[in-house]
Amino acid sequence: MPIIAVVGNKGGAGKTTLCVNLAAGISRSNSIAVIDADPQGSSLQWRAIAGDNVNFPVYAPTFSLRDQATKYSTKNDYVLIDCPPSVHAPQTVSVLEFTDIALIPVQPSPVDLWATVHIEKAINEAREVNPSLKALLVINQLESRTTLSKLVREVLNEIALPVAETAVRRRAIYRNSALEGKSVFNVGKRGADAVDELESLIKEVIKE
Ligand SMILES: Nc1ncnc2c1ncn2[C@@H]1O[C@H](COP(=O)(O)OP(=O)(O)OP(=O)(O)O)[C@@H](O)[C@H]1O
Ligand SMILES: [Mg+2]
Repeated sequence: MPIIAVVGNKGGAGKTTLCVNLAAGISRSNSIAVIDADPQGSSLQWRAIAGDNVNFPVYAPTFSLRDQATKYSTKNDYVLIDCPPSVHAPQTVSVLEFTDIALIPVQPSPVDLWATVHIEKAINEAREVNPSLKALLVINQLESRTTLSKLVREVLNEIALPVAETAVRRRAIYRNSALEGKSVFNVGKRGADAVDELESLIKEVIKE
């Protein structure tokens, strides 16, 4: 079943946040396994403090990410992979060669936008061996209705990769839920707006 990788070329774009929260959302109606392919191990750390708050595993990477992901994908509806913050990292290069979907969180800042050029190149290179690779840019940490955010969407439209309709807003609950060892799906009303946007993003990603 589908393998979804969260990739990027910029630290702090929100890969881990999206990875664990998307996994939490998907896990409500499907089986899912997460692989933390980033040596920083942030998804693994989150899983360790989450305990019984979540019902899906986060695995450390094994020698062959491809073999590991393939194995989990036969046993689960979805596999989600958290990648390091560089498209040149060997883990990202490897994952792009077999993943079905690459989700690319991008912050609405010029520096992050510049980094997307490298992502487009990496996706195109990966498509030489993985021609069915789908890629989707996701605007993350959007500040509502700022001119910069509008500009960002316009600039991203110039890049030859699709941009998700759903933008993820900057919300304190993404940080606070992680501090509590939770996803935004298990913090009750405090997470309601985040849950709404993630549900809408999940629909877009899963139909990809
Ligand atoms: N939508 C959001 N709203 C508020 N805070 C966010 C949001 N997305 C991410 N953050 C926060 O931004 C910081 C960086 O996020 P995260 O660790 O997910 O990024 P990353 O891309 O995985 O970073 P790295 O490249 O280091 O792996 C974290 O403190 C996280 O809680
Ligand atoms: Mg991370």
